[in-house]
Amino acid sequence: MVRLKDVARLAGVSITTVSHVVNQSRAVAPETRARVQRAIAALDYRPDTVARTLKSRRSRTIGMIVTSADNPFFSALIRGVEDHCFACGYSLMLCNADDVDDKQVAYLETLLERRIDGLIVMTSRNGPGFLAALNRQALPTVMLDAAATPRPDIAVVNDDSRLGARLAIEHLLARGLDDIALLTGPADHPRSEERLAGARAACEAVGLALPASRIIVTNLQADGGHAAMRTLLNKGPRPQAVFAFNDLTAIGALRAAVDAGLRLPDELSIIGYDDIDIGRYASPALTTIHQPIYELGATAIAQLIERLEHGRPFDPVTALPPSLVIRESVRQRLP
Ligand code: RIB
Repeated sequence: MVRLKDVARLAGVSITTVSHVVNQSRAVAPETRARVQRAIAALDYRPDTVARTLKSRRSRTIGMIVTSADNPFFSALIRGVEDHCFACGYSLMLCNADDVDDKQVAYLETLLERRIDGLIVMTSRNGPGFLAALNRQALPTVMLDAAATPRPDIAVVNDDSRLGARLAIEHLLARGLDDIALLTGPADHPRSEERLAGARAACEAVGLALPASRIIVTNLQADGGHAAMRTLLNKGPRPQAVFAFNDLTAIGALRAAVDAGLRLPDELSIIGYDDIDIGRYASPALTTIHQPIYELGATAIAQLIERLEHGRPFDPVTALPPSLVIRESVRQRLP
């Protein structure tokens, strides 16, 4: 195994100088830096990250636990985290925990054993064991999509889901659609609860009732949206419009409506939430609420690295604004 001293001997410099070049920890004369870099290349030297971590107590590695990178929402958010990590010289260890409490706990333990420097948690639903384990560990941590934090010094970054839901309902009402069904997420899904509260408030503001029969709980996946739409269409008079709490659910519901022979959007309007890229290619193209997904990830990791590098305190809660994206799946207002 090639060591620092081998590089130093070949380059004709001290071990300390080689260490400064490798760790970029002090300015080194360009000619000397070049000589060291040529020796590193010639010997194919690779720093011993385990030894460096133990010595510096820094691994320059961020751990991230997500619900599932399968959903394009999470993959776009992960991209925002990863790009910033790379730009700042950090590695990212990504764990898909599928919102299963035991997996969340197991992955957290693994990441802590790997001496990560900081943690990002992007899990839509958090088990009691996981929240307790999060509370016990002391690493700088930023949570996304969380309702509240288990520990005062854990930062939260979210979209403003109540505003997003209000924008969706107001758009449907503005198009003359007031018989609205909601396809929500599970009851323990904090973002879904926020969207439901926002939708209820927007309806109450205009005196519009939201009967329980018009609220269907889904798994926030395409299959759940497809099944929920079939239930709606089989259960009696269909609504004028459906507000799905994420785009995957909306796309599944849209498919079921087309399969049932409905002409969209004239016979049924659909609006989603997230603005994942595939929505623009649905037929009709999906009107939705844009979450600043990439920015959510970039904001979370930027806060975390600022804390790690400069000790900057976290902003307790950051809510990024959603916005309405009008495409084709909500009908125009009738004359
Ligand atoms: O599509 C995944 C959904 O769950 C998104 O709306 C995001 O907010 C997460 O909570």
